[in-house]
Amino acid sequence: MKKQVKNNVYWVGKIDWELEEFHGSDYSVTQGSSQNSYLIKEEKTVLIDTVWSPHKDEFIKHLKEEVDLKSIDYLVMNHGEVDHSGSLPALMEEVPDLPIYCTKAAVDSLVGQYHHPEWNFQVVKTGDSLDIGNGKKLVFVEMKMLHWPDSMATYMTGDKILFSNDAFGQHYAVEELFNDYADQAVLWEQAMKYYANILNPFSKMAARKLQEILAMNLDIDLIAPSHGAIWRDHPEQIVEAYVRWADAYQEDQITILYDSMWEATQAIAHRLAREISFLSPSTKVKVFNVAHTDRNDLMTEVFRSKAIAVGSPTVGRDILTSVAGILHFVKELHFVGKKAGVFGSYGWSGEGNKVLRKSLEEAGFDLVEEEVKVKWKPKEEDLEKAQALAQALLD
Ligand code: FEO
Repeated sequence: MKKQVKNNVYWVGKIDWELEEFHGSDYSVTQGSSQNSYLIKEEKTVLIDTVWSPHKDEFIKHLKEEVDLKSIDYLVMNHGEVDHSGSLPALMEEVPDLPIYCTKAAVDSLVGQYHHPEWNFQVVKTGDSLDIGNGKKLVFVEMKMLHWPDSMATYMTGDKILFSNDAFGQHYAVEELFNDYADQAVLWEQAMKYYANILNPFSKMAARKLQEILAMNLDIDLIAPSHGAIWRDHPEQIVEAYVRWADAYQEDQITILYDSMWEATQAIAHRLAREISFLSPSTKVKVFNVAHTDRNDLMTEVFRSKAIAVGSPTVGRDILTSVAGILHFVKELHFVGKKAGVFGSYGWSGEGNKVLRKSLEEAGFDLVEEEVKVKWKPKEEDLEKAQALAQALLD
């Protein structure tokens, strides 16, 4: 069922209430999601992106209720990832000559995934435009590495809509469609989670691209991403948030990540939290057992933090696999400008803190020298060492 976005522009996507994970199992989806596809009915009829393959039959059925597929003049594929291109083979079976407007890199990703080099690809680059009648045009803007080499955005003149694809999106099922109707707390939490977990590794390129978009002085009335809410109320607010997030973002927060075998490392984590709070009452302190916390939420908390502390007992001359897995993820997301400290307990060999340091250094954190390393169960004098670590993280 279509929903009107503005004038002759309609949403024809899929609200995916049941989705629980994304990118395999690498991204937890806790609020549902959507794959947004848009139908423009000006003198020319244009479809922008499709939906994930499990929903292809429903997508094409609904699309046929709105338009004769043969009357679609252009298909714009802003990005080749399967959540947006999954219905493409079924659509192309119905309209095999449909021109597909996309970047050169998208020809590679689409042919690589669907093996149809004969499809009618029309390669576009930044600044190219397509007349859609009624005095309106689509202008293409390459969005390389936001978040694939093939990504692009499409700007519609007249109605002033930026179809931004993944950029500015959220994994959030918003039947209400627009940001001003959505639950604000969920909207912003999901927008930040999306940035931290998917786009953060590309922040340098994102910062440059955002400046390029701002320099284009596009008059933007709506930002219509490919997931979640359409930014209708002050769409510039999500662009401004991205500018902040892409610039080594941090809040006055310190996050403590740990796992524990027999509560010794846990006791250090709790004491460290209290010491940080004692020294700096206004600093947000959060403590998470990484074995029992959603790892994508943990990454969002790291993203928010100015410093983190990571703790593990020594086990097998190494650290617990739960902590090692989290540190692998932290490294993958390329956080910058953040401090880190380590802590842990041991019984005999005691390599844990050293392993933690090495992993955090490789992940690009600035390690503080102070640490807490406790043999067997901590005594009060051991726990008091958490104060020096807390101070170093706050300095
Ligand atoms: Fe990169 Fe929503 O796909």
